[in-house]
Amino acid sequence: MKIKRNSTCGNLDIKDTGKIVELSGWVENYRDHGGIIFIDLYDRWGLTQIVFDPNISGKAAHETAGSLRSQFVVSVKGEVRKRPPGSENTKLPTGLIEIYVSELEVLNESKTPPFDVYHAAVVNEELRLKYRYLDLKNPKLQKAMIFRSSLLNTIRNYFHKNDFVEIETPILTKSTPEGARDYLVPSRVNPGKFFALPQSPQLFKQMLMTAGYDRYIQIARCFRDEDLRADRQPEFTQVDLEMSFINREDIISMIEGLFKEIYQAKFNKELALPLPRITFDDAMLKYGCDAPDLRYGLEIVDLSDVFQKTEFAVFKGALSSGGVVRGINLKGLSSQLARKDLDAMTDFVKPFRGKGVAWIRMNDDGPQSPIIKFFTEEESTALYKKMNAEKGDVLIFVADKEKIVCSCLSELRKYFGKKCSLYTENDTSLLWVIDFPMFGLNDKGKPEVLHHPFTSPKPEDMEKLDGDIYSIRTNAYDIVFNGYEVGGGSIRIHNSTIQRKIFDILGIDKESAEKQFSHLLEALDYGTPPHGGLALGLDRLVMLLLGLDSIRDVIAFPKTQKAICMLTNAPSEVSQEQLKELFIETISNE
Ligand code: AMO
Ligand code: AMP
Repeated sequence: MKIKRNSTCGNLDIKDTGKIVELSGWVENYRDHGGIIFIDLYDRWGLTQIVFDPNISGKAAHETAGSLRSQFVVSVKGEVRKRPPGSENTKLPTGLIEIYVSELEVLNESKTPPFDVYHAAVVNEELRLKYRYLDLKNPKLQKAMIFRSSLLNTIRNYFHKNDFVEIETPILTKSTPEGARDYLVPSRVNPGKFFALPQSPQLFKQMLMTAGYDRYIQIARCFRDEDLRADRQPEFTQVDLEMSFINREDIISMIEGLFKEIYQAKFNKELALPLPRITFDDAMLKYGCDAPDLRYGLEIVDLSDVFQKTEFAVFKGALSSGGVVRGINLKGLSSQLARKDLDAMTDFVKPFRGKGVAWIRMNDDGPQSPIIKFFTEEESTALYKKMNAEKGDVLIFVADKEKIVCSCLSELRKYFGKKCSLYTENDTSLLWVIDFPMFGLNDKGKPEVLHHPFTSPKPEDMEKLDGDIYSIRTNAYDIVFNGYEVGGGSIRIHNSTIQRKIFDILGIDKESAEKQFSHLLEALDYGTPPHGGLALGLDRLVMLLLGLDSIRDVIAFPKTQKAICMLTNAPSEVSQEQLKELFIETISNE
């Protein structure tokens, strides 16, 4: 490199006029205006217009400039000049000046990129991921990466300031059940044995409490083999913490303090505390899900009592088989919804196992609906009263098993909230969901935990471990941001007898519990203090703070929905040699 930059492509201004500067970067755009060549040169900090006038640059440099193309890497030396009147670009921080080049050095060439890298071009995501090193130049992605970096700095500072110790826990480890499948790593030196990649550092952080570290924090990579969605990646990052001698309120206020600091540092906004709280039961009843978005209303109303004696077959059938009838008043939205929108609801709920959605439109000349003819006068009156139905509203209903009704209405609520623009980009909904049940039922009708099996029942519910386990509530808490679970945690069990009991309820026999969790069970017997913690999903947090829709847009090298890295082609086949060394045989599917 002959020319060594002394400025960036983003910081020159009208006050620099007359200076001789040296810049390095990539060619973004090339224009030949009758012998004078203009180039937009960019780097991480911005974009500066470069001018090649053969009378100033000399013929050779001018000729080389003519061969520059998109993404060539160059250095230039030249004079900062004020742009001629009329050619300024007020949208660009450097838009009032340009550089008249006296020397040019081409540092590297580039093939023609497969897509326009600098502008937000809409291109196939798989192609973008294959050429991620080009895609990452896109200002939108760059902004996300830089935001993520400085957010991490804010988070780290906050916890260090609060006397947390940052400790790294192993990646090659033993399974920690967080509800997904494990990624396994074979051990060459221990034939037939496997490490599991951590689904979270859960057990290690608990043992750090046994070890007396008191306040632990880690920016931890986690690995989960599960079905992927826009908010889920097979490897992702948690802001993972644990504290000793604390109760739920201590954890909640520590996290609220963090959010306050983030809002202050990143958006210069005052976050009102304490954040609202809702119990799990209320969230399910009013919003149909445990991660409600409260940027808009559309609360669910239970109508089972109104239709207790109904003759309308659909409702009657659901209620008589132990189900529920619930509805939402789409308040004032009648004029925004056409008949086809209402009919389309039936197909909309099918993926959520819904059989249909009934509706009533509250017209000026009275209610209109295919189903009101089945209702008695009494039922209609009670219904309108309970749903606060007025002209201009549309009432929608789902009747079925409670779980199905909840998921259908929750999805319909989100759908209409978005479709009818019931919130703006600037609205935020940040809240705690608390008092989760300890156990639910899995597909096989057996008990499963809602969080992880190390979550403590509330002290007052401890005795129910020998009775109605489904009524046990825990000191678990989730923090929910615009309808996404952005973090979750709990007060833990610190007594090995209770921990064993939970394993027993979950059908993990004594022998398996010892095999899988002896390290934890032993640690609990060596003076583990009362403790609890939480983990924030960093990728989700960055996505939500930036108002984006996919965590792939805030991860430098993400995987596709099929857990493939398009850039490296991982996962890939390995040689028979390697497999032999690991004592592994592959079985073909044919
Ligand atoms: P949990 O399983 O709820 O709790 O995870 C904590 C947070 O991590 C984020 N998250 C994910 N983000 C991206 N891709 C994924 N596949 C993914 N899975 C989870 C979510 C979630 O809220 N050990 C406990 C925490 C604790 O109890 O302290 C745990 O891992 O934002
Ligand atoms: P049907 O008797 O099947 O013609 O249904 C009458 C109305 O009830 C239609 O508008 C259906 O979309 C609606 N419907 C069907 N099943 C359900 C259900 N499980 N919950 C609510 N509405 C339903």
